[in-house]
Amino acid sequence: MKEFKRITVTAALPYANGPLHIGHLSGAYLPADIYVKYQRLRKRDIIFVCGSDEHGVAITIRAMKENLSPQQIVDKYHHLLKDTFQKMHIDFDIYYRTSSLLHHQTAQEFFKKFYDNHQLIEKETYQYFDTEKQIFLADRYINGTCPKCGYENAYGDQCEKCGTSLSPDELIRPKSALSNSVPIKLPTKHWYLPLNEYQAKITQYIDSHPEWKNNVLGQCRSWLNDGLQPRAITRDLDWGIPVPLKDATGKVLYVWFDAPIGYISATKALLPNDWQKYWQDPETKLIHFIGKDNIVFHCIIFPIMLMAHGDFILPDQVPANEFLNLEGNKISTSRNWAVWVHEYIHDFPDKIDVLRYVLTATLPENKDNDFTWKEFQQRNDSELADIYGNFVHRVTTLLHKYYDGHIPDNIDLQVIDIQALEDCKKAVQAMGNNIENFRFRDALAEMLKIARIGNKYLMDKEPWKTFKTNELQTQTTLYVAAQITACLALASQPFLPETYLKLKQILNLPDYDFQNFWSSNNTFEILPSHHQIDKPFILFEKIPDEIIEQQIQKLQQTPKSHVMLKPFKNNIAYEDFDKVDLRVGTITYAVKVPKADKLLQLTIHDGIKERTIVSGIAEHFQPEELLQKKVVFVANLEPRKLRGILSEGMLLTAEDSDGKLHLISPFGEPNNGSIVK
Ligand code: MF3
Ligand code: ZN
Repeated sequence: MKEFKRITVTAALPYANGPLHIGHLSGAYLPADIYVKYQRLRKRDIIFVCGSDEHGVAITIRAMKENLSPQQIVDKYHHLLKDTFQKMHIDFDIYYRTSSLLHHQTAQEFFKKFYDNHQLIEKETYQYFDTEKQIFLADRYINGTCPKCGYENAYGDQCEKCGTSLSPDELIRPKSALSNSVPIKLPTKHWYLPLNEYQAKITQYIDSHPEWKNNVLGQCRSWLNDGLQPRAITRDLDWGIPVPLKDATGKVLYVWFDAPIGYISATKALLPNDWQKYWQDPETKLIHFIGKDNIVFHCIIFPIMLMAHGDFILPDQVPANEFLNLEGNKISTSRNWAVWVHEYIHDFPDKIDVLRYVLTATLPENKDNDFTWKEFQQRNDSELADIYGNFVHRVTTLLHKYYDGHIPDNIDLQVIDIQALEDCKKAVQAMGNNIENFRFRDALAEMLKIARIGNKYLMDKEPWKTFKTNELQTQTTLYVAAQITACLALASQPFLPETYLKLKQILNLPDYDFQNFWSSNNTFEILPSHHQIDKPFILFEKIPDEIIEQQIQKLQQTPKSHVMLKPFKNNIAYEDFDKVDLRVGTITYAVKVPKADKLLQLTIHDGIKERTIVSGIAEHFQPEELLQKKVVFVANLEPRKLRGILSEGMLLTAEDSDGKLHLISPFGEPNNGSIVK
């Protein structure tokens, strides 16, 4: 294996459009942090950079939803993200942001260099334009029917129902999500990076990395097999880094062009005079930690940008993880199906390491994995409390009980003692080897193995029995057990930073060179004889069932009890029911009624014509999410005016015990006008 002088580690820049959830941590940040913490212990020259990804449509959409400006959105979430990382002890050397001037300049320089060297293609294409709002529509801002599955609310870049990636042109009946108007096509000029010209070089590059993870290589190969196409690196958008050309007003760099350059900008901000070493010296190993949805950008597109530029090294490893699911379902920000990390920190302020531990133990390294609160509890109780905490507690209390908290001095190591110490040393080495190879779950298991070795050793030697019969053996046993405890503490550093600090205090841990686990041939001594340790305390409490239940409840988001079920109404004659003309219709237009918080004005196609219905659902639905939805409505309700608008009918909704409204939609695809009875 090639030896490197230094390591540059990046973790995907999270969009500053929402908080972090556990899937983010387990996808990229936690493995990256473990890797870096370990390399720091090995005294390697390493930097760890990250920051907020503050451009792109993701931000502008969030801004619309929260009724804030994009700048306000990125400010809000940048600080939340930064704070969350800090509290989880994800220790970046710098957490930067892509809205910074330095980053704007760096990204513009890249573009300018490509442009000046004629490495870009300039192309005019026809794109959807919203005539009402007078802007070109980003793919995300176009809704329509999915050509693959018929889902009526697919986005211009993807159908969320069937997962197909789309282009806006493929959508049937496209509409602007901004105004609901039908967009027209207008010509617009953009700059493209001709990825196709790099097909051979990038294939060779990927082929030179057979050691990459299979999930990563698989995605790369499938992209390369499809053949690379020129890719637009600019967009018509009013939020982002301006294209640094005269004839480019209203155009910005595509977010996936600028964001990875953010790694470089962050390094420049961290090391203004020294950053080149970390990006341009072939003796630097560049590693990108990312989730699987970012693979193509980091393994193909960004490397092509770096090649095209010419001054940069290429990523040496891209250890992407798969997805973490939650209680059997895909984590979903929009459905609020997530464990939000800042909320976890709030609910479990003294259990930061427990989350780190459980997430590491369940990392989706090779395939998707599932987080459940039950497993969280079970791993805390049976691994951290019963194995880890229990071992530390036994050793430290025995030392206090028999020797006033001193490490014994009268020792005589026998084979069994030396064996235990050597096994621990091997575990540390295996842990390191696993981390070097991005197998963090296995690495964590080796760390816990040290506590297992310790527990078994105590059981075998039973110092509480020998205390009365064999003083020398008891001293030896507790001396060895103390070394194992210290070894466990040191090995915990990459995974459990808070526990390490606690152990450091309890053991009064002296400086110890972690390298000794690799260099010396002898068994280790971390706590010398006569060394005084501090009073023990409990490291990991068991987690009561109620606490777990609360979290599961919170997930379901149903504080069920506070609205009582209303009593059923009195019986009516069928004839009375039959007077109500219930029909199926499709919502073709939806807009808020000005100055009425609760009301939406809807246009419903009833099979014959369009009619207007004013409905009190504005607090429960965004107008755009209703478009093209099939609904059931009362067709023969006496029309009446609401806020000056004539409402010709009523939508059927279900109100649940929380007071939240749900639309009643037909199961299947009945025609508009179909009778409901
Ligand atoms: N913001 C992107 C996401 O969350 C990741 C950007 S990674 C970078 O999927 F390389 F572009 F920075
Ligand atoms: Zn679809």
